[in-house]
Amino acid sequence: MAASDRPSAAPQSLRDRLPVFPWDRLEPYKTAAAAHADGIVDLSVGTPVDSVPAVVRQALTDAADSPGYPTVWGTPALRDALTGWAAGRLGARGLAHTNVLPIVGSKELVAWLPTQLGLGAGDKVAYPRLAYPTYEVGARLAGAEPVAYDDPTALDPAGLKLLWLNSPSNPTGRVLSAEELRRTVAWAREHGVLVVSDECYLELGWDADPVSVLHPDVCGDSLDGIVAVHSLSKRSNLAGYRAAFLAGDAAVLGALLQIRKHSGMMVAAPVQAAMIAALGDTAHVAEQRERYARRRTALRAAFEAAGFRIEHSEASLYLWATRDEPCWDTVGDLAKRGILVAPGDFYGTAGERFVRIAFTATDERVAAAVRRLAP
Ligand SMILES: Cc1ncc(COP(=O)(O)O)c(C=O)c1O
Repeated sequence: MAASDRPSAAPQSLRDRLPVFPWDRLEPYKTAAAAHADGIVDLSVGTPVDSVPAVVRQALTDAADSPGYPTVWGTPALRDALTGWAAGRLGARGLAHTNVLPIVGSKELVAWLPTQLGLGAGDKVAYPRLAYPTYEVGARLAGAEPVAYDDPTALDPAGLKLLWLNSPSNPTGRVLSAEELRRTVAWAREHGVLVVSDECYLELGWDADPVSVLHPDVCGDSLDGIVAVHSLSKRSNLAGYRAAFLAGDAAVLGALLQIRKHSGMMVAAPVQAAMIAALGDTAHVAEQRERYARRRTALRAAFEAAGFRIEHSEASLYLWATRDEPCWDTVGDLAKRGILVAPGDFYGTAGERFVRIAFTATDERVAAAVRRLAP
C-alpha cells in the first residue's frame, strides 16, 4: 500500500478545531528581513533577550540536586513567596496558601484552563476583541464557544463561563483603570461568571500604573470569582524557565490543583527555587525596566518620525502602530529594511491596519532599527 493511501494515525479532529498557527505566515518576511546586509532586527516576538538575573541563576543552580518529584502546589517556601509578593506588589488582602498555584509558564494555563474547568459544548469563553490568540485556542481546545468582546459588561451572560481580562494588553499595551476593572468584576459576580485576569505585563507600565484585579479597589474584601495570572517571563527575563502562577479564589484554585495533580502539571523543583529568588528581588526588575524604557523611547521616536501613529501602548513590551494601511503592507515594507514586526491581524481582524512592535531587542539591534528608519 502506498504511504499516501494509508489511514493517518494523527488526531485530526483536535487539529481541525484550531486556527492556522499565525507565525508560520510571517516566515517569508523573516527570510526577507534576514537578507539585510547588517542582519535582521527582529521586533516581532516579545521574547526577552537580556540575561537571567544572577540572583535567580544562583538559586536555580543551588537547587540543581533535586532528584525527587516536585509538588504541583509548590513548596511551602514558594507559596509564601507567592502570597507575599501578591500582597506587597498587588495590594491583595487575606491571601493564604490556598489562594496561590504555580503553573508551568502562563501559556499552558491560558490554553488549557477552559478544559481544566470542565467547559465544553454550550459554554462560552470571552476575551478582548484584540487579544493574545491563545484565549481563543483554549476555548476551541475545550470545544467551547469563543466570543470576542469590546465591553465585557455588554456580553450576553447566558452560557458564559469564563471571562478573560488582559491588562496591560497584548497587543495594544492598553491599561484598564481600577474603575473599569471594578465594574467588570461586579457585573461578572452578578451573573456568576468566573473572571480570569492575565496580568503578565503588570510590572511594565510606562505612562500608566496597572492595577491588579486582586486589589481591594477592584474586588473589595473578597476574592470570590476572580483569579489573576502572573508570569515571571517578562518581569524577570525567565521565559526560558517556564515560571508563572495563579492567585485568587481558593475554590477555583483548589479544583485546578486536583486536576493538575492528576495530570502531572508541576513546575520543576529548581525553577520553583528560582521563582522564590526572583520574587524576592526588585533590583533586577528596576534595571530591566530602565533598559526597556530606553528602547521604547528610541523606537517610538524613530517610528513616529517614519510616519507611524502609535495608539495606546501605555504599558507592556509593545508599541501598537499604524500607517493607516493594511498591516501586511507595513510588514512587507519594514522587512525590506531588515526590520520584522508582527501584523496586527494576528490578534484579531480589528488589528488589520496595525502592527505590533516589540522592544525586546538588544540595544545594538534597536540602534540598527533607528538608523534604518531615519527619513
Ligand atoms: C497576554 C499574554 N499572556 C500570556 C503569555 C504567555 O507567557 P508565558 O507563557 O511566558 O508565561 C504571553 C506571552 O507573550 C502574553 O502576551
